[in-house]
Amino acid sequence: MTRDEEIGLIAELLGLDAKNEKFLDEKVTLSPVERYSCPDRFAQEMAALFRGKPVAAAQSTELSKANAFLSRSVSGLPVLLTRNAEGEAHAFLNVCRHRGAKLVREETGCKQRFSCPYHAWTWSNQGNLVAVPQEQQGFPDLDRSQYGLRELPVLEAHGFIWVIADPEIRNAGEIQQCLAPLSDDLSWLGLADHRIAVEETFEIAANWKTLLEGGIEAYHFRVAHRKTIGPYFPDNLSSYQMLGGNMRSVLPRITLFELRDKPQDEWSIREHANIIYSVLPGTQLLVQQDHVVWVHCEPLAVNRTRVRLATLVPNSMPQTDEMQKHWVRNQAITSTTLKEDFELGEEIQQGFTSGANTHLTFGRFEGALDRFNQVLEDAMKVTEEA
Ligand code: FES
Ligand SMILES: [Fe+2]
Repeated sequence: MTRDEEIGLIAELLGLDAKNEKFLDEKVTLSPVERYSCPDRFAQEMAALFRGKPVAAAQSTELSKANAFLSRSVSGLPVLLTRNAEGEAHAFLNVCRHRGAKLVREETGCKQRFSCPYHAWTWSNQGNLVAVPQEQQGFPDLDRSQYGLRELPVLEAHGFIWVIADPEIRNAGEIQQCLAPLSDDLSWLGLADHRIAVEETFEIAANWKTLLEGGIEAYHFRVAHRKTIGPYFPDNLSSYQMLGGNMRSVLPRITLFELRDKPQDEWSIREHANIIYSVLPGTQLLVQQDHVVWVHCEPLAVNRTRVRLATLVPNSMPQTDEMQKHWVRNQAITSTTLKEDFELGEEIQQGFTSGANTHLTFGRFEGALDRFNQVLEDAMKVTEEA
């Protein structure tokens, strides 16, 4: 974010508040309930979005050492992330090329070679098949080059290892292209220089989009979050901007209004607003004063989502017990607030099956929700046409 943009975003919100106005889209819009409840639609989203677009599969420091590995589910697929001796990250399907066993069962560790637990075919951490027991008798003409691990496009940037969970996509250029419009803002946050201080994972019985939609409007703050963060925010004031296929939302705290009496060179958006980057499809970065919460949604079914919350903190901050307590307290505030959203999300999902609504209705100050859905629709159309 440039300094001019930062000033512009603050001035826009101060201006709206001064006139007692909201950040309004042109019209009220409708969102069909099938978007959130239809299994066919879910299958299309998984194919076009979660396996067709880059997903933040890990934070760089989770795979920090040479020869480190991580095995985890990415967009519903078993994925093995490795870092080779030269420090380059790789991503593979964690599936043995012999008869399909899960190659690596441990979640994390350090290894240069991976030996399958079924018949011990063995691969290097760069995906090359390096050993086949009793090869000469059993597989006399085996062309090992045809049996490398299935590799996925990967790019390490801004402190994350981004992966496209589709081995048919050959190059990582698409990842670069998707991230380019966010690049200035992610550099501004200095995310390449962060580590995970606290993390937790939830499974929520709700569609992934309902959970992300809850993060990009402030209409519900004073109502749903009245016992937690609601009192710190003005009633229903937020703005949003598109950064390519991604969204930046600004949700000011009431302290923002103190800036009216201060010279512009003292204005800091991070001090007085939550900024949320929705890196579509499934990642939100919730920017707070001294840390960023990485909210990672992995859809498990049309009505089920795994959500991982991780507090990312600058490496420059001291790593003391006291600071760790501070990060744990902060994460607890975020997760208590988000649990209020998750509970609503589960109830909304149950309501879909009741037949009460054919559509959800987004007000003009909930325009970000319509825009978010339009971006997804467009991305799915492009994939269909390709
Ligand atoms: S299935 Fe992996 S070595 Fe046979
Ligand atoms: Fe919320």
